[in-house]
Amino acid sequence: MSDYEYFSSVRARTTISVGADNEAGQHNSGRVDLSSDPPEHRKSRSLLSAAFTPRSLKLWEPRIHEVVSQLIKDMGDEPVIDIVKSFSSALPTIVIADLLGVPSEDRFLFKEWVDHLFLPLPADNVEDVQELKRQAATNYYNYLYPHVIAKRSQLTDDIISDLIQAEVDGERLTDDEIVRMTMFILGAGIETTSHLLSSTFYSFLYDNDQIYGEVQANRELLPNTVEEMLRYRFHMAKMDRTVKQDNNVLGVELKKGDVVVAWMSAANMDKEVFEDPFTLNIHRSNNKRHLTFGNGPHFCLGAPLARLEANIGLGLFMDQFERIEPVPGFKLEDHLTPSAAGQTLISLPVRVIRR
Ligand code: HEM
Repeated sequence: MSDYEYFSSVRARTTISVGADNEAGQHNSGRVDLSSDPPEHRKSRSLLSAAFTPRSLKLWEPRIHEVVSQLIKDMGDEPVIDIVKSFSSALPTIVIADLLGVPSEDRFLFKEWVDHLFLPLPADNVEDVQELKRQAATNYYNYLYPHVIAKRSQLTDDIISDLIQAEVDGERLTDDEIVRMTMFILGAGIETTSHLLSSTFYSFLYDNDQIYGEVQANRELLPNTVEEMLRYRFHMAKMDRTVKQDNNVLGVELKKGDVVVAWMSAANMDKEVFEDPFTLNIHRSNNKRHLTFGNGPHFCLGAPLARLEANIGLGLFMDQFERIEPVPGFKLEDHLTPSAAGQTLISLPVRVIRR
């Protein structure tokens, strides 16, 4: 994943993307293309990094708190909640909407577009879903573009303002590029974080039902629990790279144009690195060595944000809910959908016991 001299990240885009100079489905180019290799990759990565500084993260903390508190309040006093719908899928979308500076009254619209934009393609009715995605992409673009223009004269503490001010080698992003950059952030940051949260609840219920109580009693265990969840119930099991020049650096003859699959999931279960790797162990001291966020020049830019959302989200949830229990009759196969990057939960009913 780090050896970009031999293994390239350049790939044709399959996600729908629209913009002033970019028809649906076309390859993004230039400064908003992170599917590239160094040195071209450096510019787009640096421009986007402007929005993901440690300072930004500090400013975002109280906002994430606020979003999580509201979601928990909205759960009311229902004894059984669908944790995917009311928490894990909603949280990353609303957090990103907030960090982009989308006013709270528009978040419902925003969430609908994002849900449609990243719908997995079904086995049949592909055209219908493609059309829904195209429509959502157009609505999203038409909504955000004027928003970016308005922001230019009123900069605040949000991702769009950071992207407006970002400058590399004397170059800045255009309004159109900023909208497309935000779409990239949505694509990279929502489903991944949502999966992390959903599968954490799944693990609390079905992999080891002692963990919730243990972390509830000792919150210092939470960051390492999140890390172990990232290792153990990874979302992106693999990333592809295309061979750039004939080589045998991996011990097999590879030809230019071959595709190599980097199985991060296998690395996360490597018994040379992790003792008893198939056991979920929140006390593991070296679990940060997982490859769930990738490795090398493309290492996940949103990793600190994903960790922050998971720690704040789970911590505040535990403040409110003494215990969680499975719902009798739950059958995992009925709650899964294949997604672009891997299989994920579409719903997860949880019985909650409040304090
Ligand atoms: C890149 C995973 C959350 C933004 C990556 C890569 C992985 C990954 C594996 C590397 C791709 C490659 O090597 O080709 C994850 C996981 C997440 C998560 C598992 C949650 C648990 C986020 C969030 C954001 C984000 C919350 C932003 C809001 C990005 C960006 C890149 C990236 C911008 C591309 C960086 C580059 O190409 O230079 N992510 N991600 N990710 N991620 Fe994440």
